[in-house]
Amino acid sequence: MAEDFKIGTGSKEERYKLLFAQAEAMLRDEGDEVAKMANLAAMIHLSFGFWWTGFYRVVGEELVLGPFQGPVACTRIGYGRGVCGTAWREEQTIIVEDVEKFPGHIACSSLSRSEIVVPVWHNDEICAVLDIDSERLATFDSTDKLWLEKIVALLK
Ligand code: SME
Repeated sequence: MAEDFKIGTGSKEERYKLLFAQAEAMLRDEGDEVAKMANLAAMIHLSFGFWWTGFYRVVGEELVLGPFQGPVACTRIGYGRGVCGTAWREEQTIIVEDVEKFPGHIACSSLSRSEIVVPVWHNDEICAVLDIDSERLATFDSTDKLWLEKIVALLK
């Protein structure tokens, strides 16, 4: 199984198609949220070779660090703070082409240049966000948004 999840090849669309099918198969029989988030983070991270890929879970008034792949990250983010807290408050995916131009961006790593944050919905409420950081500018676009929203919907 592990060798299926090396850094992918092909177009972004092709990689996401394969990743979605693999994620669907992997998560189908698992009921535990944390286990599902952990494997999703690993699969996404390895498929694309991102800098940091992980989840922050809604716990009370804060986002708390969940399963992730990559360097050590900040553990708590307030509602409306940073890109993650803003995606939670605005209830929508946020794409940041250049993190230095996003007011209030929280820099967990100075090497992160661009970012996407995708809300995870459960029973009409946001229960977590998926956060992905890239070392390159403008890595994420509407294709990432479309597929990552489909992929996190598998967590339901
Ligand atoms: N950059 C995020 C913080 C989390 S780290 O990137 C892992 C933000 O501004 O919310």
